[in-house]
Amino acid sequence: MISHTDILTPDKLVIALIILLIYYLDYRPPWWNRTKKKTPTIPGPRAIPILGTNWLFYLGCYNLYKIKDFYIAMYKKYGPIVKQETYFNFPIYSVFEKKDIAQVLTSSSKYPFRPSSEASIAYRASRPDRYASPGITNAQGETWYHLRSTLTPCLISPKTVSNFTPEVFSLAEDWVNYLKRIKSPENQIKDLASIVVPLCIETTCDLVLGRRLGYLSPNPISEKSLKLVEALEGHFIGLRDTQYNFPWWKFFPTEAYRKLAYYETYIYETVLEMVAEFGVENDDETVYNLLLKTNIDEREKTGAIIDFISAGIHTLKNTLVFLLHMVAEHPETQEKIRQDLNYAKACMNEAFRLVPTATPLARVIDEDMELGGHLVKAGSVVLCHGDIACRSSDNFERPDEFLPERWLGENQHKNIAASTL
Ligand code: HEM
Repeated sequence: MISHTDILTPDKLVIALIILLIYYLDYRPPWWNRTKKKTPTIPGPRAIPILGTNWLFYLGCYNLYKIKDFYIAMYKKYGPIVKQETYFNFPIYSVFEKKDIAQVLTSSSKYPFRPSSEASIAYRASRPDRYASPGITNAQGETWYHLRSTLTPCLISPKTVSNFTPEVFSLAEDWVNYLKRIKSPENQIKDLASIVVPLCIETTCDLVLGRRLGYLSPNPISEKSLKLVEALEGHFIGLRDTQYNFPWWKFFPTEAYRKLAYYETYIYETVLEMVAEFGVENDDETVYNLLLKTNIDEREKTGAIIDFISAGIHTLKNTLVFLLHMVAEHPETQEKIRQDLNYAKACMNEAFRLVPTATPLARVIDEDMELGGHLVKAGSVVLCHGDIACRSSDNFERPDEFLPERWLGENQHKNIAASTL
């Protein structure tokens, strides 16, 4: 017979849950005698089955959308290397110090393995009629190498850059006129992103397609172009939400996955329409024409145009927002920028140091490595937090201050060496 004391009552359940939580949070009262020495493992917050360390976000200890604060706290609490576990207890290691970051980023093989967006790969694999591969930003190994060596020369060759320079001046002039047209009577800008987006989309499309789309022009822009802005933003959010939340999309099409698929389809169809409108290739040395001339599957060319535009717009937008924000907060720099182009460049370097756009860089390491005093096995995913290293006084003097002068004159060599972070 079961006595009434054996029944699991709600109060016992609550106590059991509290004990479990205390255990997972690793809290021990001071009198707790921990005599057993554990074998040294890579430090990090305690993980639970399936959710890994993501329970920290679910319980509101950290905010997934302020992920940098999470990593700063991890670095302060656990030191130069931290292990976190993502969904299904997949381990991810974070390194924060210059020598470890340099070791990871410089040791990559011919095919550096970068973690990719699984949702985007799944979507593109479901459309073999449109995509021959996951594309340059998601492909790995030989496929990535083939795409990278065939496609990026069109984008980053010195000739492409010098051909595009006069266009940059014309874009800058149009942007200044655009700002004059939209400025409020109080002469204030309330939302930096809103004034920067038209410039970024016009610049990136001009660079990649070799055509102006009219985002900075005084004439109203077409419905299609307006929707392209919405699609690029929606696509980015779809990528983010499928990547950082529990991967329900692997079991059924979640809203985030549907958003990703919908906007990817819209961008694809719009780019194809544009390509059809622009007609057959000519002799212009634009990225677009160079891409059309490459000896590669036709589907890869459309994929590359989409990937270049998507990769370019968000990076450019965030870079400009951060830079303008820094300069607005330091009015003393504004006159110096007007006087001296080198000073403008120094401000850009300093904004990149304080708020880098593309961080952390992720790699799957090819070989065992000693990082932060611990052995990390080949095949592990390592996040390189250059942004946190850039804020360390080990690497830069007065690291939290916006001091563009550090990139000029005598100091610059020391700082340029440190900036290889
Ligand atoms: C200020 C603006 C930009 C910043 C800060 C930036 C940053 C970066 C970084 C850090 C990477 C390397 C990622 C890694 O090694 O894991 C990268 C790769 C790349 N970026 Fe950018 N980028 C910018 C603008 C652009 C533009 C304008 C385009 C295209 C029009 C572009 C296209 C690409 C492509 C295709 C890759 C290669 C991806 C790969 O091989 O995996 N980026 N970018």
